[in-house]
Formats: sequence, C-alpha cells, structure tokens
Amino acid sequence: MDGNPAARAEYADNGNGAGVTVVVCSSCRDEQGSDVRPTAGERLGVATAQAADRTDIRVTQVQCLGNCKRRLSAAILRDGSWSYVFGDLTPDSGPDLIAGASLFAASTDGVLPWRGRPDSLKRGLVARIPPLDLLKDPS
Ligand code: FES
Repeated sequence: MDGNPAARAEYADNGNGAGVTVVVCSSCRDEQGSDVRPTAGERLGVATAQAADRTDIRVTQVQCLGNCKRRLSAAILRDGSWSYVFGDLTPDSGPDLIAGASLFAASTDGVLPWRGRPDSLKRGLVARIPPLDLLKDPS
C-alpha cells in the first residue's frame, strides 16, 4: 500500500486537484528494441495527450526517465504531493495514465489512491518519491 498515516495527515487537503502532470519517456523503445520512429515511447506520449484532451492534466515528454529496464515508462507528478514512476507500460497505456492522473487530481491527501487505480499502474509502479516539504525538519 502507499503512504503512511503520518505522511497523509501532513498533506491532508493540500490542493484542489490542479497541477497534475504526466511525464512520458519518449525514448523508450518497443520490445524488439527498434529505432523506428515514432518510438513506442513517442506513441505512448501521443496516446496520453489524446486521453488528456478536455482535462486539466498536463502531458509532456522527456528523454529517458532512467527506468529503461522496465520498458515504457512514465511519471505522474503533482505540486506539493508524492511523485510516482511507472514502467511496463504499452503504447496504449495513455488512458490508464490519465485515469490515474485524474484520480490523483481528486485526491485530498497528496497520495495517489490505490483503490480505483488502473491495474497497469498497480503492477507497473516502480517508485514513489515524497515531496521535499515532507522531508523538512519540523523545528
Ligand atoms: S529510455 Fe525510457 S526510461 Fe530510459
């Protein structure tokens, strides 16, 4: 499961759902390692952007998230919240990423809920990273 009660309490009700960004690795190749363009990662980026149409979720592409061994990769970020890195995605995972991002946008505790998260974002979870504010010395 994600998070611990203390972390969740610290970030309770810290936002209105704005500021969610999906970052897709455009450099990831398909299972054959093909260099054909568009790459599998670029195709995932397009599918994600299409799925985000008419939402407030921002989608952007970067080259390599450092998760190459887990195939197609993406991250979901939200201002002041935990960040999530996923792997084992497919070029068709865009709707799953946006479903997860939408769930995150509606979260009131700064944590991407496990319940309701698409299976690909459960199986594919690689890491979650706390916001810097959570690590500050409370003194
Ligand atoms: S090439 Fe996509 S994570 Fe490295």
